[in-house]
Amino acid sequence: MARKKIALIGGGQIGGVLAQLCALRELGDVVMFDIVEGLPQGKMLDIAEVGPVDGFDVNLKGTNDYKDIEGSDVVIVTAGLPRKPGMSRDDLIATNSKIMTEVAKGIKQYAPNSFVIVISNPLDAMVTLCQQITGFPYNRVMGQAGVLDSSRFAAFIAWELGVSVKDVTAMTLGGHGDDMVPLVRYTSVCGIPVMELLEQKYKDKAKAKEVMEAMVKRTRGAGGEVVALLKTGSAFYSPASSAIAMAESILKDQKRVLPTCAYLQGEFGVNGYYVGVPCVLGEKGIENIIEFKLDAEEQAMMDKSVAAVKELVGSMK
Ligand code: APR
Repeated sequence: MARKKIALIGGGQIGGVLAQLCALRELGDVVMFDIVEGLPQGKMLDIAEVGPVDGFDVNLKGTNDYKDIEGSDVVIVTAGLPRKPGMSRDDLIATNSKIMTEVAKGIKQYAPNSFVIVISNPLDAMVTLCQQITGFPYNRVMGQAGVLDSSRFAAFIAWELGVSVKDVTAMTLGGHGDDMVPLVRYTSVCGIPVMELLEQKYKDKAKAKEVMEAMVKRTRGAGGEVVALLKTGSAFYSPASSAIAMAESILKDQKRVLPTCAYLQGEFGVNGYYVGVPCVLGEKGIENIIEFKLDAEEQAMMDKSVAAVKELVGSMK
């Protein structure tokens, strides 16, 4: 059976970590495309030379020619500017729309059968544009946001409760902006509702609620927290790992249930927009969108988040 092939469009901070993770996990051969001459070639050479030490055996290639992405099974897009301190993701829309337009045309021409995972921000708008330009079916074009937002939420909960991050299950829904919806009611530690554990810890319902609200707020602003510390760019290890989880589930037909920015056609009352929801990812890409009941408060938060996505996408027209 032929080896899988993964194309990375964008060879910057996230692109580099993506390439290294693909190699370490032997997900397949990897091609990194960037417009900057020498950058993808240098990064891929750097990673390839450590194969004998790390024990991976895949082909790694850097390129400035879209033709080299031919035959890719999965394409992960990080081309575009990252945020600087004080910027919102939405401030990137003008520049990154131009870049995405070019990138999507390249993917359409040279990797017409691929599954595409978009990471570039503002995510909800960039994935919409990518699907519109490629014209690929909705199950093949998706965005990474929810895996990372949920992971951040889970990490904060684990640190607060002094338990392993491995035992927290958390999920965020909605857009990848300040109005994202961390779902407290469905968050648990080894199956035990998180609020029960916070109430046990503080022996005070109001205090437990206050602590949870602070974690929800931190989750919504977590990307900005990293930007403020780095000063020169945005998070890159965590978005890369998150997209790799999605790519791996597709490449290995794992059917993992991962929060994914997916095109909704009536689910959660949303029609015709890309929004973060739990999806089954397997060999057919988005194989199923899992719908479940939100209570009135959660639905109101979801509606607010979707309204922000609509405004963002509308601003591209
Ligand atoms: N085609 C391909 N690559 C491009 C293009 C283009 N038209 N324009 C820019 N790039 C490349 C840049 O040369 C750079 O190497 O995209 C890369 C972006 O890398 P970084 O600036 O390091 O940004 P990174 O931190 O990787 O984030 C990329 O993901 O999370 C989002 O907000 C983030 O939009 C940003 C994107």
